[in-house]
Amino acid sequence: MKKVKIAPSILSADFSCLGKEIKKVEAAGADLLHIDVMDGHFVPNITIGAAVVKSIRKVTALALDVHLMIKDPQKYVDNFVNAGSDMITVHIETISSRNIQVLGKKLKKKNIKLGVSLNPSTPLKKIAGVLKYVDFVLVMSVNPGFGGQKFIPAALPKIRQLKAIFRGEISVDGGVNNTNAAKLIAAGATILASGSYIFGAKDAKQAINSLRKP
Ligand code: DX5
Ligand code: ZN
Repeated sequence: MKKVKIAPSILSADFSCLGKEIKKVEAAGADLLHIDVMDGHFVPNITIGAAVVKSIRKVTALALDVHLMIKDPQKYVDNFVNAGSDMITVHIETISSRNIQVLGKKLKKKNIKLGVSLNPSTPLKKIAGVLKYVDFVLVMSVNPGFGGQKFIPAALPKIRQLKAIFRGEISVDGGVNNTNAAKLIAAGATILASGSYIFGAKDAKQAINSLRKP
């Protein structure tokens, strides 16, 4: 069984002291740093861009897991690569299978991992054809756009079904906390992205540990 990785989502951090917030979760045992990029088109919210990723790269040794919730992601991927991303996720709702294949080849040369994500309403069969081009799948367990939403339990059977057909890492994002982490891991999730539960906790270390070993 793969070791479960915990990826705090900085969307729930205090952006006025982002460097400090990142150091806090790094010291608390985070494995990756999940960075939510939103464009106000694919999702009804705007967050941060490549300039912020570039600054984050300077203050942490954690791998940067960049979740692109944007239209036409292939137009912007180079910016995020140059900013220092280690993992880049695109949404199947925003890109063709052919362009995922092209992107996969390009990122492989740069040693960057490619992930594909799907919204709660998008069936698994939509990503079946691209699984061979990606390193991981990010299963959304909320409708993307905002932190602090309630976990949608239909993500569990989706992860179970995905595990049966996919050998890469399975990440889950949205409403992840200590009440569902054990079920997610048992279903096959190997990366847990979690924002409000970790950044809202008094003790980030305890929160991270409670996800890893629920
Ligand atoms: C939602 C984002 C998530 C979000 C998770 O659109 O992709 O990464 O920050 O936050 P919580 O854990 O609070 O649901
Ligand atoms: Zn995310």
